[in-house]
Amino acid sequence: MDDRALRSTVPLRYDRTRGELVLLDQTKLPGEVAHIRARSVEQVFEAIRSLRVRGAPAIGCAAAYGVALAASEAEDRREGPAAARACALEACRYLATSRPTAVNLFRALDRMEARLRAAGDAPDASLRDVLLDEADAFFREDEESCLRISEAGLALLSPGMGILTHCNAGALATSRYGTALGPVHLGQERGYRFRVYADETRPLLQGARLTAYELMTDGVDTTLLCDGMAASVMAAGLVQAVLVGGDRVAANGDTANKVGTNGVSILARHYGIPLYVLVPVTSIDPGCPDGAAIPIEMRGASEVTEAWYRTRMAPEGVKVFNPAFDVTEASRIAAIVTDRGVLRPPYGPAIARLFAGEGGRP
Ligand code: MRU
Repeated sequence: MDDRALRSTVPLRYDRTRGELVLLDQTKLPGEVAHIRARSVEQVFEAIRSLRVRGAPAIGCAAAYGVALAASEAEDRREGPAAARACALEACRYLATSRPTAVNLFRALDRMEARLRAAGDAPDASLRDVLLDEADAFFREDEESCLRISEAGLALLSPGMGILTHCNAGALATSRYGTALGPVHLGQERGYRFRVYADETRPLLQGARLTAYELMTDGVDTTLLCDGMAASVMAAGLVQAVLVGGDRVAANGDTANKVGTNGVSILARHYGIPLYVLVPVTSIDPGCPDGAAIPIEMRGASEVTEAWYRTRMAPEGVKVFNPAFDVTEASRIAAIVTDRGVLRPPYGPAIARLFAGEGGRP
C-alpha cells in the first residue's frame, strides 16, 4: 500500500505532542474518514465498546495506550506517582470490561500491569512516559507480527487465486498490514493479482464497510457478497482459499472469530477449500482449553433490527439473537498461521510447543 492509502487505514496512533490517542472512527467508514482524539481512559473505553476501534490486535493496542492515558491524566492533576499508579491500575480493571472475546485486550492489559508493578511506587521517570514506551513497544511488536504473518500466509497461496474472507482482519483491525488481509496486501505489492470475495458480515457490516474499503484503497480486485452468498461463489469454483482472523484461539485450536466464520468453515469443508486462520501469538490463549470456554460477547438487539445506519428493518418487539462471535472447530482449520510459524493439526501439541517453557505466556 502506498503512504496515502496506508494513512487512511491506520486505526490508531499516539500523538505525544498533544498527549492524545488518535483513533480512526471506523463506525464512520467508508463514507467519512474521521478521527477521534482521546485524552481519557473513558474515551478509549467508549471507542472500544462501540467499535470505533475494533479487531483483536487494534483493541489490544488501544487499551495499552488507554492505561498510559490514565497515568497521564493523574500526572496532569499533579497527584503524585502513587496516585498515578493507582489510576493506571484501575484503568486496567476498567478496560478489561470493555469487550470480552478478543484475548489480545487482556494480554495488553496484563503487560501494562506488569510494567506498572515493575516501575514501583517511585519510578525514575514519569509513569506516563514509562507506560507510553510500553504501549509503543506493544504496538511495534504487533506491526512486526503482522509482517511475519503476511509472509507466512502468502507462501500458502498462488497468484490469481480467489480468496474469501469474513469480517475485517486487515490493517484496520491491527497496528498495520493486518493478519488475514496481510498476505493479500503483500501479494498486491508483488503482482499476485488475487480476487477477493468479502462477506458483508452482518450485522455490523465489517466486510462491506471496512474490508471492501481497505482492499479497494489498495487497488485489490474486490467483490462484495451478502453472507448467504458464500456457498454460491464456492460452488461456482471461484474461491481457492478462505482467510480469516481470530479473536481467541483456544489451546486445542478452536477459534473464535466474527460470527458467521463457523458457517463459512462448514461450507469450505463441504467444497474442499482450505480455511486458514491468521493470528498473532497474542491471540492464542493457552489457558482456554477449547472453544466452549471462550466467552462470546452478546451485543444489543438494535444492531440487528436497525442496522448500522439506524433504519429499522424488523418489526418492533421481535426477539433477537446477536452473538458477536462464533467458534470454528479446530478440525475445520487447515492451518493456523502465526508470527511464530504455521501450525498444522493436531493443534493441541503444536500450541503447547509454542508456549512451552514460557510459563504459558508468549
Ligand atoms: O467485532 P469486531 O469488528 O472487533 O470483530 C473483529 C473480528 O472478528 C476479526 O476477524 C478479528 O478480531 C481478527 S482482527 C485481525
